[in-house]
Amino acid sequence: MFNRLESEEINIAGEIPKEDTARQYFYIEKCKELYRKDPSHNTYCLTTFGCQMNEKQSEVIAGIMDEIGYRRIETEDADIVIYNTCTVRENANLKVYGRLGLLHNMKKQKKEKKIILFGCMMQEEHVVNKIRNDYRFVDLVFGTHNIYRFAELFYHMMTGEQQVIEIWEGTDKIVEDLPAERNYDFKSGVNIMFGCNNFCSYCIVPYVRGRERSREPEAIVEEVTRLVKDGVTEVMLLGQNVNSYGKTLENPVSFAELLEKVEAVQGLKRIRFMTSHPKDLSDELIAYMAKSKKVCHHLHLPMQSGSSRILKEMNRRYDKEKYLSLVEKIRKAIPDISLTTDIIVGFPGETEEDFLETIDVVNKAGFDTAFTFIYSKRTGTPAAKMENQIPEAVVKERFQRLLSTVQEKGREISSRFVGTVQEVLVETESKDPGIFTGRTQYNLLVHFPATPDLEGKYVNVHLDECKGFYYLGTRVDPLQ
Ligand code: 5AD
Ligand code: SF4
Repeated sequence: MFNRLESEEINIAGEIPKEDTARQYFYIEKCKELYRKDPSHNTYCLTTFGCQMNEKQSEVIAGIMDEIGYRRIETEDADIVIYNTCTVRENANLKVYGRLGLLHNMKKQKKEKKIILFGCMMQEEHVVNKIRNDYRFVDLVFGTHNIYRFAELFYHMMTGEQQVIEIWEGTDKIVEDLPAERNYDFKSGVNIMFGCNNFCSYCIVPYVRGRERSREPEAIVEEVTRLVKDGVTEVMLLGQNVNSYGKTLENPVSFAELLEKVEAVQGLKRIRFMTSHPKDLSDELIAYMAKSKKVCHHLHLPMQSGSSRILKEMNRRYDKEKYLSLVEKIRKAIPDISLTTDIIVGFPGETEEDFLETIDVVNKAGFDTAFTFIYSKRTGTPAAKMENQIPEAVVKERFQRLLSTVQEKGREISSRFVGTVQEVLVETESKDPGIFTGRTQYNLLVHFPATPDLEGKYVNVHLDECKGFYYLGTRVDPLQ
């Protein structure tokens, strides 16, 4: 077992290694050799669309590019432009197509420019066909299952003339130990599983991310231990449905058991996780959260709709009553819990009555924040074929009503912390010089005066005022 290979351990004149990780390190060395021959095109720009799992996977791409020798810049006049794509809603796709138009013009001025697309959107056949036929200037395309092969694919792109496209239908592989360039020094996402088996009728994720696969708990604990050694104190365990973690492992492990193992890592202060499916949220997990010293009292529990009829059509496998009683059970065990949720408006067949059920749950459940989405028809999902797609004007009007209810209730609920002193992890300086942003364990944002030396540290902040989705505060050390 190795964590990473050093250049001197790799013989690029020798045979291509068979083992996946070693093979990719071999190709990183090959790319370095190419780069050294012509270091004149040396910048890259990497943009990530979508969720935190994409963010995490982009860190591997950045790690490999940095390792080869490229320099990351934030503008798209870079020599290499890379998009990690999302397809959960249609506007994510439209954004990519829009930007490709601009990139095409830039490439006409600079022929050596390379354009790379990967991630969820590339797992859709119609997208790849379109790129193959209408966007021939794109140099490399790969999907979600073969991200770990980036170095090898990049090498083929750099040494060939043709557009390189490699899409896999699925995989049962999880390749560990590739280089990664982290976005933050003090906090990090950690993938604990990939894919989803739930097939909610509106959702494209199971089709583009494949079947659920969990990482071995030892590999997760090892990664967390390494991160902590590197200065990380807060981890976010990531998966589409963390509550079903470990079920498919050879030696099954529950999510609560995994939390216990992660909690044992010395030096780690906070553990977050996302996303929880209400149907799989166990009593064991609630009990563990209640007694844990490190698991934050924040739960993201997507409800999607408050109407039992629509929930059935969505294939969510819980109803309004079950959702509300789950919320009650959680609050009883963890009274200070902060709850957040996702809600979709305008699912096919949604009536005004159904919509009012959603508003009713928002009024009753006490969410600190709710992420609201307009239903987006995704080709290939069961909901795309449903009759009664809701007219745009109706959906927009409902969306506005939902948004104002969510904001009003969110402000009311979050105000419960005003006047208290909370421990805050200092993250970054805001647009206002001298004002920093941090998060409480409840995942609520706080703005307060601080200094750069405090970045990544925990400070105690008095929450003076709630501004809706953030607070204004003042530091009070030590804790009063
Ligand atoms: N339309 C709108 N929102 C969607 N989501 C998933 N699929 C769709 C869709 N087709 C939302 C869900 C999910 C969040 C990540 O994205 O609310 O929880
Ligand atoms: Fe999509 Fe449902 Fe899986 Fe979440 S649980 S990724 S909404 S299918």
